[in-house]
Order: sequence, then C-alpha cells, then structure tokens
Amino acid sequence: MPALTLIAAVCFLLSDTHAYTPLSTNTLSSLPRPEFAFNIHTGAILAPLLHPRIPGTPGSRAARQHITSFFATNLPTWTIEYQTSTSKIPVTESPRTTFANIIVSRDPPGLETHNVSRLTLAAHYDSLSTPDLEGFIGAIDSAAPCAILMHLAQSIDPALTRKWASTPGRTNPTDQEPVGIQLLFLDGEETFATTLLANDGLYGSRALAAQWAVTAYPDTAAYESRLDAIALFVLLDLLGSRDPTIPSFYPVTHADYQRLADLERRLRELDLLESGTGGDPHHWFVDADLAAMDVSRAVVQDDQVPFAALGVRVLHVIDVEPETGGFPAVWHTMDDDGAHLDLATVGDWGVLVTAFVAEWLGLEEFI
Ligand SMILES: *[C@@H]1O[C@H](CO)[C@@H](O)[C@H](O)[C@H]1NC(C)=O
Repeated sequence: MPALTLIAAVCFLLSDTHAYTPLSTNTLSSLPRPEFAFNIHTGAILAPLLHPRIPGTPGSRAARQHITSFFATNLPTWTIEYQTSTSKIPVTESPRTTFANIIVSRDPPGLETHNVSRLTLAAHYDSLSTPDLEGFIGAIDSAAPCAILMHLAQSIDPALTRKWASTPGRTNPTDQEPVGIQLLFLDGEETFATTLLANDGLYGSRALAAQWAVTAYPDTAAYESRLDAIALFVLLDLLGSRDPTIPSFYPVTHADYQRLADLERRLRELDLLESGTGGDPHHWFVDADLAAMDVSRAVVQDDQVPFAALGVRVLHVIDVEPETGGFPAVWHTMDDDGAHLDLATVGDWGVLVTAFVAEWLGLEEFI
C-alpha cells in the first residue's frame, strides 16, 4: 500500500503542474515600477499603511478603508469581499476581538464561478500589539507586502481586461482558461501574548481557511470548495529590507519558487532592478539551484500554515536566514518603520511579483 500511495501522490503532483510561457524580454522591460505611489510620506499606496494597525482599533479600520477604497476607485472590476470572525485573545479582559480579512478578486468573464481556480496572493495588514512597542508600525511586517499586492493588481489590470476581451482564437467566452486571481489582506497574523500559545496569532488566516474548506461547491463544479479552487497560495511577509534571503520551503511548489528566482535573475541581468549592489549582485532566492527541495526544512509559522495544513499548494516568500531562522534586523523593533525600508528593494519586489503573476496568468501578449 505505501508504494501505491506514493504513485498516486506523484501522479497528482504531475497533473497539478502549471504550464508557463516565460515572459519575453520586451514584456519584462515594460512592467510598471511603483514610483511615487510608494513614497513613505505622500505615496498613494504605501503611505496610508504606515501607521499602527492593531486588530479592532481605528488604525486597523483606516488601513482596511484605504485598501478597499483603492480597489473601488482604481480597479472597479475587482470584487471586494470581507470575511470576519471573532476570537478571544490572551492578555485583554475584553470579551472578543473582531478580525476582518479583505478578499479582492477578478475572474475571467462568462464562466461558472465554481469552475474557476484562482492564483492567490496574500499578506497580513495587521500590526503587532505589545506594550513594549507602543506605536509600532510594521513596515516590512507587512505594510510593504500589502502595498506590493496593490501595485501588482493595478499593474496587471489593463492586461487582464485585454486578455479576457479578446483571447485570440477564442470567440466563445466559456473557452477562456478558467483561472482568475484573488488577493487576501489578512487580519490578526500577529500574536498578542509574549509566550507561545497554540491558539494565538494567525487569527484571520485560520478563520478564512476553515470557512473556505467548508464552503462547498455544487457537485457539478470542477472544484469541491473555495479552498480547493486555490491554484497556488503565495504568501508575502517581511519584505522591504535590503538584500533579502528567501528560502524554498515546500517541495510541491519548488518549481514555482524557481520561476520567481529565474525572473529575479533575468530582471537583474536586464538592469531592471534597482537594489543590486553592483559587481557581484546578491541573489535573493538562495535555494534556486537546488533541483528539488526535501521536506527537512522547518516552515515558518505564518498565514500559510492553516492553508497548507488543508492541502493547499503554498509558496512562502519570506526574508529569513535558512540556517539560523533569523529575520531582518528591524523585525519586531521600533525600527520597522517607513524610514528603514529599502525603497529600491520594495520597488523591485513590486516589479518581480508583477512579473511572476503576469507569467502565471499568461499575460505575455497583453501587457
Ligand atoms: C464545470 O466543470 C465541470 C467539470 O469539469 C463540467 O462538467 C461542467 O459542465 C462545468 N460547468 C459549466 C457551467 O461550465
């Protein structure tokens, strides 16, 4: 039986592999780079996120308002949904705290919703609450990753419109490739207690994964549930410091990791990234040359865990030193603010993530 199980698992993995067409050099060169929108004082995307965003507080509401009004105003074809839950948190006397995830999505038109799978990218918008760090902002953790997702949406939106309006050779809209995109802005990632508790932190992602796992689709649909319809779950966290170190964690998505690594290398060779240190550029994806990942690397406890535990294919893009488990120097200190972001690196992430998604969604001819 174990041998049979293994064969079944391998077949499943092969059938799940996504076919990529690499982006051309021309297309890579034409990807928009976040400029003024990422100014830390006045930038339309990033600046409004650089305030404390503790769950259940006015700062959290303001961040949510910023994200949703950005989509409603600039990207009206995207659907905005909320998913809320309440939970007791350690350390306060208040009965319950409300956690509110924001989900924005755009699907190809004319298809049965339950037959569409979605490339899913996520970042948490809440910030750490702890008595020692009053006014903590969390710029890399995770204001900048949220801004990168907003830039991504704005950058690919016109190409999605063109692709879905006129896919060559596909006159019938139901012939569209049934793949859409959704972005998750998650609440309550941070823990409240100073000691490790099993049910502290990951409040929003735990609630969302659990709800989507039981959001059953009709028997006739291509997918069993909203969770099952996640084609790939890409989590961005702790991004925005200079010279990040991004390990590969999950054997089943190592090929996706290598696509990102490859795009970083190509963009750097084309001189389209600004964070390089000259002569011998530091490559971010330190496991790029490994042919395959084994399962021995410890995963980092983050919003991908509740999804991975339910069988979702996860790619965790987080700046962590694989040998020591060390996070960027500003992590969970008062220095994790706008002034300590490396804006060349943040901008490069905006370009790189856009390239990855454009490639994944087959936008080559439409950008
Ligand atoms: C949805 O997908 C299923 C399974 O692939 C298929 O049988 C069904 O006809 C599709 N429904 C629509 C409305 O396209």
